[in-house]
This record gives sequence, structure tokens and C-alpha cells, in this order.
Amino acid sequence: MSSYSQSIPLPAPTSGDTGWFTKSRFGMFIHWGLYALPARHEWVKSRENISTEDYEKYFRHFDPDLYDPALWADLASEAGMKYFVVTTKHHEGFCLWDTKYSEYKAPNTPAGRDLLKPMVEAFRSKGLKVGFYHSLLDWHHPEYTVDNCHPMRINEAYIAADKGRDLKKYVEYLYNQTKELLTGFGKIDILWYDFSIKGNEKFPGKGKDEWQSEKLISIIRQLQPGIIINDRLQIDQDIKTPEQVQPVEWVKVDGKPVVWEACQTLSGSWGYHRDEESWKSVEMLVKMLIDTVSKGGNLLLNVGPTGRGELDYRAIRALKGIGGWMKYNNRSIYGCTQAPDSFKCPADCRFTFNPETNRLYLHVFSWPFKHIHLEGMSSTVDYAQLLNDASEIRLLRKENDLLTLEIPVKKPNVEVPVIELFLR
Ligand code: GLC
Repeated sequence: MSSYSQSIPLPAPTSGDTGWFTKSRFGMFIHWGLYALPARHEWVKSRENISTEDYEKYFRHFDPDLYDPALWADLASEAGMKYFVVTTKHHEGFCLWDTKYSEYKAPNTPAGRDLLKPMVEAFRSKGLKVGFYHSLLDWHHPEYTVDNCHPMRINEAYIAADKGRDLKKYVEYLYNQTKELLTGFGKIDILWYDFSIKGNEKFPGKGKDEWQSEKLISIIRQLQPGIIINDRLQIDQDIKTPEQVQPVEWVKVDGKPVVWEACQTLSGSWGYHRDEESWKSVEMLVKMLIDTVSKGGNLLLNVGPTGRGELDYRAIRALKGIGGWMKYNNRSIYGCTQAPDSFKCPADCRFTFNPETNRLYLHVFSWPFKHIHLEGMSSTVDYAQLLNDASEIRLLRKENDLLTLEIPVKKPNVEVPVIELFLR
């Protein structure tokens, strides 16, 4: 272990096993459900206030005939992802697995089978860890009361009928399904609940009291010791999960660093969205991954497969692009974290650091002309090379403790070049 390790933030241990998680750094999020058919955002039922009767057509037509989870697992693995998190059920309430507690499930659609089990098997056989996203919201369950996210929040008759609804019965359903998911699919590494709702003038919120989060957490921990639980039950557990933002620094709670994972989309929607056009470039995605690790976090990058059961061509292009970069540069990602504060990062660059190998990685976001100067480091670095081809980067040591890296005029042929610095 490097002597620099003491100056790297160290989150306090939690009940879940985050050791593998912080080494892996990169995972695939999968949002797949009936909303793939309308193909205009996974919140379509809520956004367009669609009734359950009208939404039924998607259930009747859900027929992912090209679904082959082995292909998804290959794409994830080739992109360098080490775990995946899939929506077992999203807010619409549709279940991907053959649950015994609901008829609103994949086996009862034209798909005709459990879609979750083969996915878990395919990803696991590629060596990826398994995570389940599970929605706390449920816009299909008859006992689920109206709140400010619910599709029927503008329907006075539906709201009035809340008097006859018993949210406790829904919560019982939530418990039953959680137990089912945690006992029927082998070892589950992550449970990713989503989410607790703030109340407003019209509707009460739903949070730890409604979900009885404490009780739920203790059941989960009994069933799957070591499992990583996220923060959206309104009681923080093992990871914080900022969404669609790049935090400015290592994420903290009450001033203390915690284990964190940014979740990000490839374009603006989580579910398959045919017409959404804000797709991020491979270069931007690679930079987001680097930036995340440089602040001690993980990146969970989302794909929204189509109603035919395929990853969309734009997602495939992005994953292959990231994989191309990862093939040569993953050493600056796996096992890496924020660099010690004493290392001053030059402009337009990001550092990551591997405390076990004592190597520092300089990611050059904008390639400068001939030289990069590292202040205060002339006696710190023993040897330097470009990571993508192991070609030496010559070092000029100056008296004022300035270390100058002599870089080629031409930017190396990778989205983001990385210089590997072997520390003394
Ligand atoms: C949200 C959204 C959602 C998405 C999730 C991912 O809270 O409701 O659709 O699944 O965040 O973080």
C-alpha cells in the first residue's frame, strides 16, 4: 500500500460489502419495461396521465422477439463494465420476472416467459456482479395511493377512491416481492430502490415511515448479507446515488466522504426513447467516467433496450467506443480513486491514483503543445509512459521541483490520452 494512502478520503465502513464495488468503478444500468413500446420516456404513463386501462395496450403488445441477454452481457463486458443493475420493476409496476404476487408480469405478455432470470445468468456468467433496481412507486397496483408523481394525480374521481385504498397492503406486496427477488436469483450484490417522494400541498409524501424502511433493510440484510443498498429508502445505507450530475468533489454526507455512484444516461431518457437526440459522444462519456473516478466515485451508465429486446444502435456505438478506450486505459480506472491532495493537477487534466500499485494517472482532456508541467513533483515520479502504448514519456527535472513531461506533438489516437506515472 502506498505511503500516500493516508491523504486519500476514506469512507467509514457500512454493513454492505463495497470493497469489490469501489474497485470496479463502472457498471451498466438497464431500464427495460413496457415503456419501451411508447418509446417516449419511462415516465410516459405519469407525464401523459395515462390510465391503467389505456396503458394496457403495451402489456398486450410486449413481444421482445430479439431478446438475447448474452449479447447485452457481451456489450457490457467489452465496454469494461463490472456489474449491472436492472429494473426488475419500474414505476409503471410491470414485473420482468415470474412473480407469484402479480399477474402484471412478463410471462403474461406475448414475451411469455421470465425475462430476468436469463439476464442474471448471462451477466453472471460473464463475471459481472448482479444488481436489482426496484421501484418503490407503483402506478399499477390498486392499493397504491395517489401522490404528486402518480399518473392519476389530476383525476378527482381516482383521487377520491384513495379512501378505499390501503397503502399498507401495497407495502406488504413490496416486501413479498423483495423477498422473492432476494431468494430466487442467487447472490444479489446490489439492491437499488427508487425512490422516496416529497409531499406537497395536495398529496402527502412517501418515505421511510410508509416503506417502514428500517424493517425492510433488516430483512434484506438477513436474506443477502453483504448486499449493497442505496440511499433512496430515505435512510442512507451503503452508497449515495447522485443522478444525471457530475458532483464537483467527492460526495459527502455531514461533511464526511461516502461511497458514491453517479448514474447517467446515454441520452436524456432512461427507458428507450426513439426520438430523443441529446446523445453524449464517446469522448464525453469517457471523460465522465474519468471525472467520476478522479473524485472517488463509480459510474453507472444506462441503456434502455427496445421493445424488440435489443440495445439501440446508438447505445451499441457508445458502448463499443468506451470499450475501445477501456481496452488500453482501464488500468487508470479499476482499483483507482482520487489522488492525494498534495498532487496538483495541471489545467484540463484529471488525476486518478491506484494506492496498491502506487501509480498516478494523468488524463489529458485537452492535449497541449509539447509539455505538461507538474508542480512540486520532480522527486516524486520515477518513470512515465503513455498508457495506451507503453511508450516512454521523458521527464525533465527542474531545480524548483517542477517536473516537465515531454509529450508528442500529435495527440495519441485515443479519446483521452493517459500518462502513467510510476511514483517513488
Ligand atoms: C429517477 C426516475 C427514474 C430513473 C431513476 C434512475 O428517480 O424516476 O425514471 O429510474 O431515477 O436514477
